[in-house]
Amino acid sequence: MLTSIKTNEFAGSESKKLAMMYFRVAIILFGAQLLMGLIAAIQFLVPGFLFELFDFSVARMVHINALVVWMLYAMIGSVYYMLPDETGIETVGIGIGKLAFWVFTAAITVVVLVYIFVQVGAGTEATIWFINEGREYIEAPRWADIGIVVVVLIFYWNVFATFMKGTQTGIMTVMVANLMALAGLYLTGMFFTDNISMDQFWWWWVIHLWVEATWEVFVGTLAAYALIKIIGAKREIVEMWLWIEVLMLFGSGVLGLGHHYFWIGTPEYWWEIGALFSALEPVPLVAMFVHVLYDWGKEQGETHAKDSTAHAINNGPAMAWIVTNAFGNFLGAGIWGFFHTLPQVNIYTHGTQFTAAHGHLAFFGAYATILIGMMYMGIQGAYGVERLKATFKSKMAIFMIVFGVLGMGVALTISGYEQVLVERAELGGGWNAFFTAQELPWYIQGMVWRAIMGVVTFVGFVYLVWDLLTIGKLSKAAEA
Ligand code: HEM
Ligand code: HEM
Ligand SMILES: [Fe+2]
Repeated sequence: MLTSIKTNEFAGSESKKLAMMYFRVAIILFGAQLLMGLIAAIQFLVPGFLFELFDFSVARMVHINALVVWMLYAMIGSVYYMLPDETGIETVGIGIGKLAFWVFTAAITVVVLVYIFVQVGAGTEATIWFINEGREYIEAPRWADIGIVVVVLIFYWNVFATFMKGTQTGIMTVMVANLMALAGLYLTGMFFTDNISMDQFWWWWVIHLWVEATWEVFVGTLAAYALIKIIGAKREIVEMWLWIEVLMLFGSGVLGLGHHYFWIGTPEYWWEIGALFSALEPVPLVAMFVHVLYDWGKEQGETHAKDSTAHAINNGPAMAWIVTNAFGNFLGAGIWGFFHTLPQVNIYTHGTQFTAAHGHLAFFGAYATILIGMMYMGIQGAYGVERLKATFKSKMAIFMIVFGVLGMGVALTISGYEQVLVERAELGGGWNAFFTAQELPWYIQGMVWRAIMGVVTFVGFVYLVWDLLTIGKLSKAAEA
């Protein structure tokens, strides 16, 4: 046993209980996301499915908004989870933190019910205020936008005040600074201009600067924290990596924004800026990959050198998901992102299923994986177990989810490739070309396989929920 890692020091803390509340809602929304994805995937194959009851546009909207919101919930949960461990004290404003949780959850419930039952409104201001804003991924109506800002301010105050009062580690310093940028960027997606180019220009500040800058730094801090907790990695080493990653991510990610400015009416100099800086984006992802694997290998070697019977990993499922994150981030964001990031390539791939292939592999690889890992850490803390051992269900969950999402990514890539060749290269784009390409067998086969692999993913998700509900109790019993 590794006695040097105090996994349970703050096991019963209020902050960790609040974290579990966030994790529970996150997993429910994750399930809703997948169900909506399945509906949308069926509609690709049977266009009349739920016609005028629940159209593709609505299923797709709920699918990707649920995605963003469950990830934000799991991110807030992860911060509340690690906060006492890192600062050495209980979180200062638990009462108001819990109040914010309930307000946030009630607001999200209302927003989702409106998405599902009201669905669309007239093209007026009232729609923007009460139904949805029509901005992909962050469609929440204006009233909810303002509510989200208030809730996030409460959360941020909690993190900041606890950080100031407690020990200030390097991990938390990065976390506090990065969260400010992450929250601040949300504001750029809250105002409206009548000019669609300008509107898109600012909207990308949220989307791109979240997933390719601030969220990446965020998961860097989670990985650093988790590696210390799970394998006893040395703080100086993980923090050194973290600072390197921060430097590189902001270096490439900020101007990498240009890869969304190729065709929306912004000046042409964005071609060069976008091409150069976004092409550099995979570099920090390699560093993150090396970081996790290097620390893991090093610690395992050292533990075994001391005691050959020692378990180097005190939370098997969390570690498995974090290693998957290192691979997945590099593959989905780094490789699949790099494929279409040069304007010379993007002019062919833009708006094809290739984009969706990258979107799925990147969001899953870079974020879903490590956030699921954090949920397993939450379970370990909640049950106060020394070592959380992977069960059959943990293994089925990770295997089927990873296999399913990879399968979807490959299927979408094949459909996208067909679109590039037939719709764009051969037929020169345009409306007719678009429909011709969609009716050819290679495209349709890709869509069929996407739906099949979606079902595989969903079965994996059922295993995941089942495992999260039972693994804590099982491990506790085994330890007793
Ligand atoms: C974890 C990080 C990332 C996530 C979650 C992510 C996700 C996404 C998503 C969802 C889209 C589609 C947006 C839309 O609906 O229009 C997109 C577009 C794009 N991504 Fe990423 N991405 C990530 C990192 C990267 C990286 C590192 C690169 C380049 C090396 C990249 C290159 C692109 C490009 C070029 C597009 C535009 C595609 C087009 O519209 O033609 N992404 N990304
Ligand atoms: C049951 C599994 C899933 C199915 C069947 C599914 C299906 C779909 C469908 C049909 C779309 C609309 C694509 C289009 O407009 O052409 C979509 C979009 C999207 N899904 Fe999924 N999905 C699933 C799981 C996931 C997961 C696990 C993630 C990420 C963690 C994810 C992230 C996204 C994103 C980011 C988009 C927008 C992509 C873009 O605009 O390019 N989905 N999904
Ligand atoms: Fe981007």
